Amino acid sequence: MSEILSLEKIYAPVQADLDIVGDWLTSVTRVSYVPQAKMLEHSLKDTGKKIRPALVLLSGKFYHYNLDTMLPMAAAVELLHTATLVHDDAIDDSDVRRGQPTINATWNTDKAILLGDYLFATAEEFTTRTGNLRVIRLCAETLQLITTGELNQAFNEFNLNQTYDEYLKRIAGKTASLLAAATESGAILSDAPEESVRILKEYGYNIGLAFQIVDDILDFIGTEQELGKPVASDLTQGTLTLPAMLLLQRYPTDNPVKRVFESPGLKDEIARAIDMVRNSNITDECYKAAAGFRAKAIADLQQLPDCPAREALYNLADFVVQRRK
Ligand code: IPE
Ligand code: IPE
Ligand code: MG
Ligand code: MG
Repeated sequence: MSEILSLEKIYAPVQADLDIVGDWLTSVTRVSYVPQAKMLEHSLKDTGKKIRPALVLLSGKFYHYNLDTMLPMAAAVELLHTATLVHDDAIDDSDVRRGQPTINATWNTDKAILLGDYLFATAEEFTTRTGNLRVIRLCAETLQLITTGELNQAFNEFNLNQTYDEYLKRIAGKTASLLAAATESGAILSDAPEESVRILKEYGYNIGLAFQIVDDILDFIGTEQELGKPVASDLTQGTLTLPAMLLLQRYPTDNPVKRVFESPGLKDEIARAIDMVRNSNITDECYKAAAGFRAKAIADLQQLPDCPAREALYNLADFVVQRRK
């Protein structure tokens, strides 16, 4: 795998347009006449990685790139993403996101739920500006997949009996579906041939799986400083992710994950599980799984026209696996 580039370098072919998307998102916060103005400003501060809007724009670069549809679509996926984060933090009662206090911590959970709803509706409104029914439908279906993935996770809280396939299905819904929608919509809106739409959608889906596997690894080996959000939160929430699953497989009887899931809140056991994962080759195995999805993601990219955006997608696939934030 080649050396990891900064996102700034990777985004270069679309950076100017990504900046306009940032301005559009800021314009969503300029609604001083509504009570949620400050919450909007807080949640839409320019601090996220912007991977999903960058994917829309990069995927739109291969055929007929049209700013009239690219900008609203890219803004819509970032709004949809932000809404899911606001709700995710409220559900998890999480205090920190993107290095800032969360909406639920700053205001409260009820207001966070309502703000999330407002952001979802704003995302929908932006998709309609494309005038393209296919991507409008795609966004609606994607939100169904994300919520199904999150509900799946909620229904399996503190459940020790989950398979790798169930884990994959869950992360496909809650995370990969949105990255796939980003690349697919960029392709659709640029009138890409159907085979190219398929290739770009598969790319988004597979880097989405890799992205969430790495997120789940970083929850064990990252720091709050790097990630801008709490670590060790998955075990605390009772979410069985791949590293925890592998630790369970290795020590089926005497196991800290088992103890935490049977008696939630045992802080020493959470620390023990993290130590055991860090001091084993479990993270290597998880990285191998992520690398497998990266390889799948880029497998067909060479069939697309050779252009700077294609190079960016190769580099972004490397970033997703090697990132520390
Ligand atoms: C966080 O996504 C949610 C997951 C799917 C793990 P990002 O890591 O892309 O969040 P931001 O937008 O950069 O904060
Ligand atoms: C992604 O999963 C959540 C959404 C798809 C909204 P996580 O729960 O792992 O995300 P983080 O770690 O809180 O960012
Ligand atoms: Mg979370
Ligand atoms: Mg996470």
